[in-house]
Amino acid sequence: MQSLITCVLIIAFISPCLCHRWNVGTQNTIYNVIDFGAVGDGKTDDTQAFLKAWQSMCEAQGTSTLLIPPNKVFLVTSMLLKGPCVAPSVQIQLQGVIVAPTKDAWVEGNLNTLIMISNVNGLTIDGSGGLIDGYGSAWWACKSCPRPSVLIINSCNSVSVTNLNMINSPKSHIHVNGCEGATFSHINISAPGDSPNTDGFDISTSKNIMIEDSTIATGDDCIAISGGSSYINVTGIACGPGHGISIGSLGKKFDTVQEVYVRNCSFIRTTNGARIKTFPNQAVEVSDVTYRGIHGTSLDGRAITLDCGESGCYGIVLDQINIVSCLTGKSASCFCNNAHGTATATNPNCTCLLP
Ligand SMILES: *[C@@H]1O[C@H](CO)[C@@H](O)[C@H](O)[C@H]1NC(C)=O
Ligand SMILES: *[C@@H]1O[C@H](CO)[C@@H](O)[C@H](O)[C@H]1NC(C)=O
Ligand SMILES: *[C@@H]1O[C@H](CO)[C@@H](O)[C@H](O)[C@H]1NC(C)=O
Ligand SMILES: *[C@@H]1O[C@H](CO)[C@@H](O)[C@H](O)[C@H]1NC(C)=O
Repeated sequence: MQSLITCVLIIAFISPCLCHRWNVGTQNTIYNVIDFGAVGDGKTDDTQAFLKAWQSMCEAQGTSTLLIPPNKVFLVTSMLLKGPCVAPSVQIQLQGVIVAPTKDAWVEGNLNTLIMISNVNGLTIDGSGGLIDGYGSAWWACKSCPRPSVLIINSCNSVSVTNLNMINSPKSHIHVNGCEGATFSHINISAPGDSPNTDGFDISTSKNIMIEDSTIATGDDCIAISGGSSYINVTGIACGPGHGISIGSLGKKFDTVQEVYVRNCSFIRTTNGARIKTFPNQAVEVSDVTYRGIHGTSLDGRAITLDCGESGCYGIVLDQINIVSCLTGKSASCFCNNAHGTATATNPNCTCLLP
């Protein structure tokens, strides 16, 4: 009898361990940064604890989750979360707050970003209840000084980010580079309208990217799509303040951007709406651009600007547009320079478009 009890007790004691090791693939193992030494008091540098937790998770066989628990503030700096991971998919649950160090405490590293996630496939980030605070205000005074961004997702395939809140990046908030297949939904990015270069999203050299149902208030572009990007869908974005949703600037070196669809977005108190920017005098070809179903008001009355430079732009379609001037007694205007295309049901009517 004595030996039976001992046996039962031993089995009960070791069984949680067995589950972890043997239920690989069916169990989602949690890697809580607290268990790897993170303090979460907002003062202690928790970077090493995050890196250890990430590495353990990334080496795990089955689906696993890096947990940043609620009700704590984690200070991290220049953190590289590197893959590839062993499992085909990994998750990050951000329930607590991540803060950047103050400007003076920023560690000059080779990473000019608070968090870089690189070479990870099948990544899911759920930021419900959490926040990333870039602590940017001290950096904004010097516009020409190098400043870190908050999150770079680099060389990743099949990424899904939901319910992420971010505020006050020193520079851009989320930079997606070299990724194929990424969806961002219910992202809330907020920085003051006069904070310099605080883009919401920068997308470069990426394909099949979807940004949807999000709120972006910044001092620069809500979304900027640059060279080497294609099949980018942006829907249901409330943008403003900010500079609008932009493609470019293009043409500093050879780059192409194609198949970009921006739908059902609002621009409130933005300096621009939907725009394409190119470097002047560099013969960038802009063609097959459709603006349809856009209505609203323009503060200075210049509702539509199609300034195409010497090489001209072709296949511009304006359809069902109604933009009125905020200035009483002054009607909205359209400016064209070497722009070729058609305007239907468009106010201002853009008779300056060339055939
Ligand atoms: C987005 O975040 C800002 C700043 O934290 C907050 O004021 C705002 O209510 C949030 N908006 C949404 C739609 O959650
Ligand atoms: C993006 O929009 C295009 C054009 O409507 C559509 O064909 C494509 O399926 C969309 N992609 C995604 C991922 O929704
Ligand atoms: C447009 O976007 C808003 C969110 O900004 C969403 O509530 C609405 O359902 C969307 N409408 C369509 C037709 O997609
Ligand atoms: C275009 O608008 C201008 C200014 O409102 C007006 O004078 C002109 O007649 C319009 N042209 C056409 C073709 O509707």
